[in-house]
Amino acid sequence: MVSNTGLSLSQSVFRPPGVCFWSFIFCVTSGRVKKPRLRPKGFLLSRHHFQFGNYASSVVSGKKLPRFEDIFSELGYKLPEKSAAGKTAPGLVVCDKNTTALARDITNELPVLTLPPGEAAKTWQSVETILRAARNNGLGRDGLFIGIGGGVICDLTAFAASIYMRGAELALVPTTLLCMVDAAVGGKTGFDLEGLKNLAGTFYPAKAVFIASEALKTLPLREWKSGLAELFKTAVLSKDESFFEELRRFIETGGFENPGFTNSETTEQFLSLIEKAVLVKGRIVEVDPREDLNNAAGFGMDAAAGGTERALLNLGHTFGHALESALGLGTVTHGEAVAWGLARSAELGQQLGITPPKRAEEIIRLSGRLLDDSFGKVICRVNGELFHTALLSDKKKKAGKPRFVVPSSEGALIIEWNKNIETYCNSLAARFSGNSALFPG
Ligand SMILES: NC(=O)c1ccc[n+]([C@@H]2O[C@H](COP(=O)([O-])OP(=O)(O)OC[C@H]3O[C@@H](n4cnc5c(N)ncnc54)[C@H](O)[C@@H]3O)[C@@H](O)[C@H]2O)c1
Repeated sequence: MVSNTGLSLSQSVFRPPGVCFWSFIFCVTSGRVKKPRLRPKGFLLSRHHFQFGNYASSVVSGKKLPRFEDIFSELGYKLPEKSAAGKTAPGLVVCDKNTTALARDITNELPVLTLPPGEAAKTWQSVETILRAARNNGLGRDGLFIGIGGGVICDLTAFAASIYMRGAELALVPTTLLCMVDAAVGGKTGFDLEGLKNLAGTFYPAKAVFIASEALKTLPLREWKSGLAELFKTAVLSKDESFFEELRRFIETGGFENPGFTNSETTEQFLSLIEKAVLVKGRIVEVDPREDLNNAAGFGMDAAAGGTERALLNLGHTFGHALESALGLGTVTHGEAVAWGLARSAELGQQLGITPPKRAEEIIRLSGRLLDDSFGKVICRVNGELFHTALLSDKKKKAGKPRFVVPSSEGALIIEWNKNIETYCNSLAARFSGNSALFPG
């Protein structure tokens, strides 16, 4: 069976009934014959391998969080001797205040560094704290950095791992929906500088990413919506109508807004949607692992426009990043900015005659459902000039001009700067006049 992303599902999905996948992998990779530990029945699992340039990366998903020995064995590591865990720890766990409990579920054996939560902590100071903790715990170059948290923790931990002794081992356990479907997969790392998002960073994919729906049960509604925005973006560009339809229905019915949703079994249903998003992103990054500006081959490209494969993932982001910058980083969540940006890119695409009107209307309406009422008040505070400047100085410029990704009848298309885009951007900046009704959806 071949999935729409071209990956063979029968090859990439493996489900032994009732047996803990993590234990199974442990037994196989450690080469020992050992009776597998049993986990609760119905443990759903899957495993996908990607090759991102020189880096092999696997994404393993299940209902339950892995134990640290599962993580070690997935990487083919020998389990550390108990007595050795002390001055020379084999690994370092990095988490934030909201994910410490999850980190403790995963290991009591490894040192755990807890950083403050949120975008404000995505700084060089945090990177330095991680590097010092690694040094103080005696990690060698074969030491394993394990990031357990949302996109901020995973980006920071991955960046620190990429420069520690010129590159240490890395595993990630994403704990927000946004991080599962996007940030933890594909190898972009970084931190914010001078008020600019991810100004410094590296490409350094995790050797293994562990997605566990159990981690989502404590996720606040606002963060769920933020993750749904990235998931929705991926569905829009995926060229997979059934993926788009499934998500459209889910967002339309607003089930995630019901009290108790995050504690229900529904989070487990998300594994299949998360998996679809991971496959779409993984497939795109495999073709263009470093967002090469001269690479114009592959997946849904407008080669004439000189676009790049990976840049498709920026759908909604050029507008979203400009909004985040104009408001000050951390004022709205990344996903809220993406939802708003997605609506703007549909608006632009329709004006350019690229996005079919029905699709544009759907995207604008559904993106709006992912934004709280309070978002309208926040957006009234945007300074149009600042927004315009941020939009034009987007770091993904080509030949000095920003490029835009707009939804098309076949996913999404990258378009170069032109007179019509300039007119749209000018009028968009002028709409920030304190009236949020100017941004329907
Ligand atoms: N590397 C990439 O390719 C990539 C892609 C998209 C986004 N990002 C980055 O990701 C970041 C946004 O990620 P995010 O939305 O996960 O934000 P985040 O990491 O700030 O997490 C959001 C909030 O949720 C809390 N949290 C995390 N897991 C939780 C859980 N299970 N239960 C309760 N609370 C939990 C966090 O402590 C934080 O307060 C941005 O910095 C963005 O630049 C990176």
